[in-house]
Amino acid sequence: MNVDIFTLFPEWFEWLSAQRHIANVTATGSRIECVNFREHTPLGAGQVDDTPFGGGAGMVLRVDVLDSALRARYGVDPVELRAARRVIALAPGGRLLDDGLVDELASEPELTLLCGRYEGFDERIIEHFASDVVSIGRYVLSGGELAAMVLCDAVMRKLPGALGDERSAEEESFSAALDGNPEYPHYTRPAEYRGWRVPEVLLSGHHERIEQWRRERSSERGARRSLPPDESVPPTR
Ligand code: ADE
Repeated sequence: MNVDIFTLFPEWFEWLSAQRHIANVTATGSRIECVNFREHTPLGAGQVDDTPFGGGAGMVLRVDVLDSALRARYGVDPVELRAARRVIALAPGGRLLDDGLVDELASEPELTLLCGRYEGFDERIIEHFASDVVSIGRYVLSGGELAAMVLCDAVMRKLPGALGDERSAEEESFSAALDGNPEYPHYTRPAEYRGWRVPEVLLSGHHERIEQWRRERSSERGARRSLPPDESVPPTR
């Protein structure tokens, strides 16, 4: 998978690229590359944003700046681009990122992520260049970079070779193997700590019973999550 990230802060993604599961997939042919769209602005003094028409606080990313940056990267009119690859604008009001969307994106060979800053994008960027608008939650971040990192992390750990043990991705929270439920609880040594004992079944070595116990706990957690907030027990994960 090739991921291009359009951002004013490319150096932030060095940290992401150094993470083990990302490094694992980039070692086997995937790549993450950043484009600093300030370097492609047709305006003077590195200008990328402007005041909103109609007034109001903050600055808005200009459509002509994104147009030149996308054109410089792909050599086509960016209006054509979204037919060839997913061009995802990160914004708080977009489609919420969940495991289903992560799976969908993990099957794409190419992704382009657009990170907004300030008050966000001129709407024409969304209307004419983006194929998707994705949000990582209903809160406002200072820009799309952290959201792009969350998306990349979640998507790239699904790629073959990302995790040391492929089973880790198969039976994790929200996977089909767990019927979309959160993952079951995990325990490790010591088997008893301050009087808190690990469930006996996990120490039994009886694989079928362990499997059944895990499924039950996972669907219990799923059921708990669908209760209205005041009736649900505080989630553990
Ligand atoms: N940009 C600012 N806030 C965001 C959010 N919650 N999700 C995605 N992109 C964002």
